Amino acid sequence: MPKKDERLLRVGVLGCGPIAQAAHFESCTKARNAELYAICDVADDLRDRMAATHAPRRSFADYDAMLADPDLEAVIIATSDAFHVAAARRALEAGKHVLCEKPLATGIEEAESLRGAAGGLVLQVGHMKRYDAGLQAAKAFIDGGPAGGMGEMVALKAWYCDSTHRYPMTDAVQPLMVASAQARKPAGNPKADLDRYYMLAHGSHLVDTARYFAGELVAVDARLSKRGGMHCWFVDVEFASGVLGHLDLTVAVRMDWHEGFQIYGAGGSVLGKTYNPWYYKTSEVDIFHESDGATRRVLGADGHFYRRQVEGFAQTVLTGQGTGGADLEDGIASVRAMVAIAQSARSGQPVRLADVSGSL
Ligand SMILES: NC(=O)c1ccc[n+]([C@@H]2O[C@H](COP(=O)([O-])OP(=O)(O)OC[C@H]3O[C@@H](n4cnc5c(N)ncnc54)[C@H](O)[C@@H]3O)[C@@H](O)[C@H]2O)c1
Repeated sequence: MPKKDERLLRVGVLGCGPIAQAAHFESCTKARNAELYAICDVADDLRDRMAATHAPRRSFADYDAMLADPDLEAVIIATSDAFHVAAARRALEAGKHVLCEKPLATGIEEAESLRGAAGGLVLQVGHMKRYDAGLQAAKAFIDGGPAGGMGEMVALKAWYCDSTHRYPMTDAVQPLMVASAQARKPAGNPKADLDRYYMLAHGSHLVDTARYFAGELVAVDARLSKRGGMHCWFVDVEFASGVLGHLDLTVAVRMDWHEGFQIYGAGGSVLGKTYNPWYYKTSEVDIFHESDGATRRVLGADGHFYRRQVEGFAQTVLTGQGTGGADLEDGIASVRAMVAIAQSARSGQPVRLADVSGSL
């Protein structure tokens, strides 16, 4: 068992579904500065089994009852996308800090409705790739610092290509998932509209990675090809900084998981290869420094992005120190970018992010 700090943030996880089972329960248990204080799910069979396995101090069928617990300090929202905003708002109203799974919302106005709700509380969005030590090293190079950095960024390409072989891969490494017929799901089948489903599930990661490195997106020009059973978005993007950008979201490529980025700057370049997250392997990020002609790569032995995310979130709550996580504005901007990409792909026209509204 990893060593724990004296002061532990008391976290409750809303939802005992796959992401909680694969990531959040273990992350809270292992985090040096947090504990799995409570779990909550309407599905009795699932909740009881998870309580027996992960031994939280409290177990709740009712979300409001969990929020009413005065010892609970923070909530991880691990429910379907459609429930995120309402659950986040209720937690904030109850005075609890929030780490909300991505995407923050399925629509722009819904996401923006959380502005003003946080008060002095922390609201972080679960873009856990920001806690990949490889991406963090790239970000540090981009941001410069005493040792010098990349200097002016010129261009960024990023790609997120799910693999047709992902389930054999993830089944091999994830715990056996427990399902329940009583689980609460939004009405309708979320996979009925695959354009929407893939954008929310996967596009949210891609867009956040691009923004993490290159800042605000101002316009997108997207094409979507649906051939050979694949969904392939190629998106020319414009950043506020003037950086030239291109994003590729493909679900699913006929090969191994294929995710990464390349960035060109005046003082060096970055080439990144990211693995399927469930391998907990830090991205291989080669950072070439023009100043001394050398390439550096951080090992990142600890590749547990989900636990590192909980530790970052808890640190922000407990000390007020930012840890580079995605905040409310990042969550809103990701939703806005996804809506813009979807609208651009439909219309065949470039779309400025400031002009879009509505939902995916
Ligand atoms: N960051 C990542 O890498 C990653 C990976 C997978 C999924 N996710 C995200 O995680 C979220 C959850 O995914 P999932 O597949 O685990 O969802 P899920 O819908 O399968 O499970 C959610 C659980 O929450 C429970 N629940 C919902 N509303 C509730 C309420 N009001 N009170 C009590 N219980 C409630 C349901 O009964 C269900 O058991 C999604 O938003 C998804 O996008 C993120």
